[in-house]
Amino acid sequence: MPNVLTDRVAVAEKYSLLDEYVIMVVKAGNVIDFASGSPDPRLFPKEEVRELAQRVINEHGVEAFSYPPPLGLRKLRNAIKSLLTELGVSIPGSKVAITSGAVRAVELVSTLLLNEKSGAVAEEPTYLQALYPLYVVGREVKYIKLKNYKYLNTASLAKVLREPHIKIYYTVPTGHNPTGATFSSSIRGEVAELVREHDVLTIEDDVYRTVLGGEAPEPISAICARHSHPYVYLGSLSKVLAPGFRIAYMLIPEGLFPHIRAIASNALTLSPLNMLMAYEAIRSGFLIKRIRELSREFKERMKTLKDSLMDYMPDCASWNENAEGYYIFIKVKGVNMIKIFNDVLRAGVGYVPGDAFLYNSADDETARLCIARPNTEEIPEGVKKLAKVIKDKVNLN
Ligand SMILES: Cc1ncc(COP(=O)(O)O)c(C=O)c1O
Repeated sequence: MPNVLTDRVAVAEKYSLLDEYVIMVVKAGNVIDFASGSPDPRLFPKEEVRELAQRVINEHGVEAFSYPPPLGLRKLRNAIKSLLTELGVSIPGSKVAITSGAVRAVELVSTLLLNEKSGAVAEEPTYLQALYPLYVVGREVKYIKLKNYKYLNTASLAKVLREPHIKIYYTVPTGHNPTGATFSSSIRGEVAELVREHDVLTIEDDVYRTVLGGEAPEPISAICARHSHPYVYLGSLSKVLAPGFRIAYMLIPEGLFPHIRAIASNALTLSPLNMLMAYEAIRSGFLIKRIRELSREFKERMKTLKDSLMDYMPDCASWNENAEGYYIFIKVKGVNMIKIFNDVLRAGVGYVPGDAFLYNSADDETARLCIARPNTEEIPEGVKKLAKVIKDKVNLN
């Protein structure tokens, strides 16, 4: 047995806790699933995907089964650029790179910019799986707490950015996972100014812009680009096409492109078949139509979730009333949401304890609720059941 780097394994286990909880909920079966961030299978466009696959094989033939270019097929890269324009993202002079999932993009950028002497900073709580490459390649990942699990405090960010070894700020400014927060235009402007002042690169993970149908303030990256400051802007088709395609994209300044390509060339992780299907989905207009439909559906679900929380939750529970996209993070004073996870599951409801998103601190009174899977009929039923278990615990205490 080789000498395993056990601290890396321990962190990997902690950072992938989210998956562990989701698996427990899925395995339980027959529950209202507020845990999974994978889109509702009932909304999967099976027929359209079958047609896309057939068209790709008929029209693109052997190209679909060749080795891929390291940063993706040019036609898909161009198509992503036009899709992004429809979603309100335009960064003149940027290059598009395709990656097999958003975390692969974080991995490529970390490899390019970090070493054992430099580090990154990220929000707390956040989507921990994206932090793993930053942790492995760099010296440390510092945190900035989102105030009341809602707001980015730019003064706290400024304090961390002043540390000279901090080179990357990983941020999820739109429909933040797990809080649902969207940073305002003025906060985005302040962030862009701070990263410029301290010569830090922002990895802006904007995966949830698609879920919002593009209704979000201008990306931080676009502001950075106007000031000729480097940026990495990330997005993904996972939430609006299907996560199994493993198609994500990044916009980067032209100067970074050859360096990222050199690193990506060492592991060809992209599938031409999937890329061509994504290309056809965009070219035919199918994807933008689906994005518009899904964003209306998710908006309806989010409203139902907020109304249901108001209707059923006891006074000791609080949440972000402005949450958007997929997630709401609840804080239930006096109730340990890790301990009651199994009771709630037995009552027919699954969620993810907040612990799966906290890497520096602990707060067992928190949980993430996600509306990717339950529909507007299931959401009130699920919240009612969850609230009942919580109220029973509060009464017992
Ligand atoms: C903030 C964030 N980034 C990235 C991802 C994953 O994206 P992909 O499926 O492209 O790897 C998720 C998935 O939940 C996420 O919440």
